[in-house]
Amino acid sequence: MIAVHNLVKQYGKFTAVDGVSLDVPPGEIHGFLGPNGAGKTTTLRMIAGLLKPTSGRVEVNGHDVAKEPELAKASLGFIPDRPFIYDKLTAGEFLRFHAGLYGLDGKGVMDRVHEMLDLFELRRWENELVESFSHGMKQRLVMCAAFLHRPRAVAVDEPMVGLDPRGARLIKDVFRRMSERGVAILMSTHTLEVAQEMCQRLSIILKGKIVAQGTVDEVKKLAGGSDDHLTSVFLRLTGGSALQEIDEAV
Ligand SMILES: Nc1ncnc2c1ncn2[C@@H]1O[C@H](COP(=O)(O)OP(=O)(O)OP(=O)(O)O)[C@@H](O)[C@H]1O
Ligand SMILES: [Mg+2]
Repeated sequence: MIAVHNLVKQYGKFTAVDGVSLDVPPGEIHGFLGPNGAGKTTTLRMIAGLLKPTSGRVEVNGHDVAKEPELAKASLGFIPDRPFIYDKLTAGEFLRFHAGLYGLDGKGVMDRVHEMLDLFELRRWENELVESFSHGMKQRLVMCAAFLHRPRAVAVDEPMVGLDPRGARLIKDVFRRMSERGVAILMSTHTLEVAQEMCQRLSIILKGKIVAQGTVDEVKKLAGGSDDHLTSVFLRLTGGSALQEIDEAV
């Protein structure tokens, strides 16, 4: 599970995250939506323990991220929007290195590495340098690394960006299967179809504040509609584009 209580992040006088609360119980895929600059990445980085909150609290699988950072991190898989990978390692070396960071060792480690490489269709690239990988291959390698230690909760920042349809389908299937096994998944995305298709509940953030939270139907109701496409609901909640302005400008 992931539980976020009244989380705040200030940069000087600017409040990037302004009292965000949300919870993702075991087995739920929770969509985290909002326009550019709304505070999604900042929130996810605080959940992952990479950024210190100004105030508020984050719990991951019952561990307070500020008080028990190691236990919290050990039970979380975090996939950042712009992952850092060492280009001069092979895929296999990168994953072994990652396994070491999570304290995985012994005989089973290479089996687990191979299992992940097979799952993400990278096995035949095991001994190739990461620098030769395409964007989609790097993205899948990062997923391998994030899931090596069988996390019970996952926080992921825009996982589908730049993936081809096959890669996107694979990732969706993996997330679904993980959630069926009780993993809690918090996923930021700009692809509303993905959110609608995959997420049991959504949180919509605007200027650091949650403006709507609930199932897709509940969020639609909150926005004052019922059978609208999620895009129009999203734009209504977040003050989207005005056609008249576009008409005048083009
Ligand atoms: N280190 C920083 N110093 C100052 N402001 C920051 C810093 N990091 C983020 N911000 C600001 O915080 C706000 C939220 O940024 P964040 O990256 O969380 O948005 P986001 O919702 O992930 O957007 P996107 O959809 O574009 O990825 C932005 O206005 C951003 O400029
Ligand atoms: Mg972001």
